[in-house]
Amino acid sequence: MALLEAAAVTKAFGQLTALSSVDFVVEEGQLHGLIGPNGSGKSTLLKCIAGAELPSGGRIHFRGRDITQATPAERARAGLSLKFQVTSVFPELSVYDNVLLALQARSPLTALTFSRTRADLHGRVMEILGELRLLDRAAATAAVLSHGEQQWLEIAMALASRPQLLLLDEPTGGMSLEERRATGELLVPLRQSCSIVIVEHDLDFIREICDVLTVLDQGRVLETGTVEQIQRSRKVQEVYLTRV
Ligand SMILES: Nc1ncnc2c1ncn2[C@@H]1O[C@H](COP(=O)(O)OP(=O)(O)OP(=O)(O)O)[C@@H](O)[C@H]1O
Ligand SMILES: [Mg+2]
Repeated sequence: MALLEAAAVTKAFGQLTALSSVDFVVEEGQLHGLIGPNGSGKSTLLKCIAGAELPSGGRIHFRGRDITQATPAERARAGLSLKFQVTSVFPELSVYDNVLLALQARSPLTALTFSRTRADLHGRVMEILGELRLLDRAAATAAVLSHGEQQWLEIAMALASRPQLLLLDEPTGGMSLEERRATGELLVPLRQSCSIVIVEHDLDFIREICDVLTVLDQGRVLETGTVEQIQRSRKVQEVYLTRV
């Protein structure tokens, strides 16, 4: 059974069809790249999966459970986590507190009153800061982080609750080449504990880190396959040569 299975997902905004009968499958441990021209529906697909938008048609199953109509909170509890294209850190809070808040937001309130749980939370915050190479920035306010570090903090926040599937919408947007390279190095080991769907415009970056690519064009799946298959695809070449 696939970890995530979106079948015939359609999303209309008034007259505009942003997604048209999209089939999208993510297997356990996969680093799955989602690419396509501007406006092709990448962010809308991630939002339909995470529950920020409800599809107009089709079904979405996560770990065998139908989550098509589930609330974002229910999906988060089931093990889904989304880092949006726009930033969501609290700039005046420390790096540590941002991750702690993200973690507490996903813990039942009653559990937070027990000190053992607080110690557990501390351990998890330090662990995740370590994985994202932010340990030495723990006490810094988020506002003073570099653009790349802010993106890593957001990934840390999205990972705090140990999701089974992490959805990343353009995490390297605005990053320097060096920061992009470092992001690739950070993401690859994470797949041992969770699958990742990543939206990217930088094809060199995505070729380096992904096992499978899905190409969207005008709300439809143009092609799904390995990096080699996508590179050889005539249909994909045509879209990228003529429209990107
Ligand atoms: N809330 C909304 N209301 C109306 N139209 C929307 C809404 N969100 C997205 N759209 C439209 O749906 C289409 C797909 O948008 P989407 O943001 O999913 O594309 P994208 O592939 O993520 O593009 P980009 O690469 O620019 O981020 C676009 O035509 C967009 O204008
Ligand atoms: Mg987008």
